[in-house]
Amino acid sequence: MDKGEGIYLYDIDGNEYIDCASATFNLSLGYSHPAVVKAMKDQADKLIHVTSSFQTEPINQLARKLVDLAPNRITKAHLKVSGGSVANEGAIKMAQRATGKRDVISLFRSHLGQTMMTANLSGNAFRKANFPLAIPGGLQVPDPYCFRCFYGQDSSSCNMMCVSRLDDFLEFASSGSVAAILVEPISGNGGNIVPPHGYFQKLRAFCDTHNIKLIFDEIQTGIGRTGYMFAAEYFEVEPDAITVAKGLGGSGAQVAGILASDELSGLSSSDHSFTYGSNILAASAALTTLDIISKPAFLKNVQETGAHILSRLERMKEKFAFVGDVRGVGLMIGIEIVDEKGKPDTILTNWLAEKAMEHGLILRTSRYGYGNVLKIRPPLILTLEEAEVICYKFESLLEEVMSV
Ligand SMILES: Cc1ncc(COP(=O)(O)O)c(C=O)c1O
Repeated sequence: MDKGEGIYLYDIDGNEYIDCASATFNLSLGYSHPAVVKAMKDQADKLIHVTSSFQTEPINQLARKLVDLAPNRITKAHLKVSGGSVANEGAIKMAQRATGKRDVISLFRSHLGQTMMTANLSGNAFRKANFPLAIPGGLQVPDPYCFRCFYGQDSSSCNMMCVSRLDDFLEFASSGSVAAILVEPISGNGGNIVPPHGYFQKLRAFCDTHNIKLIFDEIQTGIGRTGYMFAAEYFEVEPDAITVAKGLGGSGAQVAGILASDELSGLSSSDHSFTYGSNILAASAALTTLDIISKPAFLKNVQETGAHILSRLERMKEKFAFVGDVRGVGLMIGIEIVDEKGKPDTILTNWLAEKAMEHGLILRTSRYGYGNVLKIRPPLILTLEEAEVICYKFESLLEEVMSV
């Protein structure tokens, strides 16, 4: 690849692609957004790096702004982290300190990072298989994947066993010392799994009953991706902590943070602090990004373009038998590809993702679930016209399957 602009990426031969993966799901404002570029250039002229032991205006402003925008329970931000994985680890430390307990519950198919601890907590085997990780204290439990329910239920009769059976896991499968549940509000790599209405209210109640801290990993879902600043807002739940990264950098600045409630104490530098955390250059990009994304009209556009794509995909589902399910919120959309028996069709999914390039689309697949979900998550600056172009190209791609 050679250069990028907005939602488009260009290769060295000048071919144009719409990036429906927003790079690594992090370019919330697309490639080289002019306002982000300007903010970073201006900041670079003044100061690129200073030790985070000093106070700086961009970092202080960013902390205040994130807390202002976050759900009410959130009262503080820790920005001395260099990425999502270490933000998750810091949030776990906070929960351990607040509860005096040790372990972490996470969900099947979750992706929580690739440090030793977060890989160990993630809900899939393939990331762990090559490393003899020996970190105790993780327990993965069934996720709210209604399309392929672990308990073989359907949502009209299940009484949300994915939460109600957690008591059994706590009683019979845990160490008896669970400090936190760390959960992506929408399982991103796991297959764009959107929990059913009421799931998080039940999970919140479960956490309160057992003095377990509810941590939202909003590294994919946060900063406008769902059409709300945080998915917590969309699901109407107040977590004890929220981790953010990816989209906060706007056009790719490396920034992350832990947002936490009063009940969780902050982390001092000796507790959790990294050389490239609290980076002032990245903070200037993040401040500009938040300014742009937090505007109601911007978020409304995310909701509308997302709704348009979803409704077009619903119609494609009627037309193409191999489209098993379509689900998403805002511009976080997944399409489940199935065979004639309704089973996950990974081969076709991978073929579609590869072929998409010929149609000028960059699509990614979920590797953590069955590997049969195509993901559409373009930059949030997408216009309705561009959304329609994506749908048109995607439909042409699906039509190719019928002709081979
Ligand atoms: C949901 C989620 N959590 C955590 C991480 C880890 O973030 P990082 O790669 O910045 O360490 C990722 C990265 O893909 C992610 O998607």
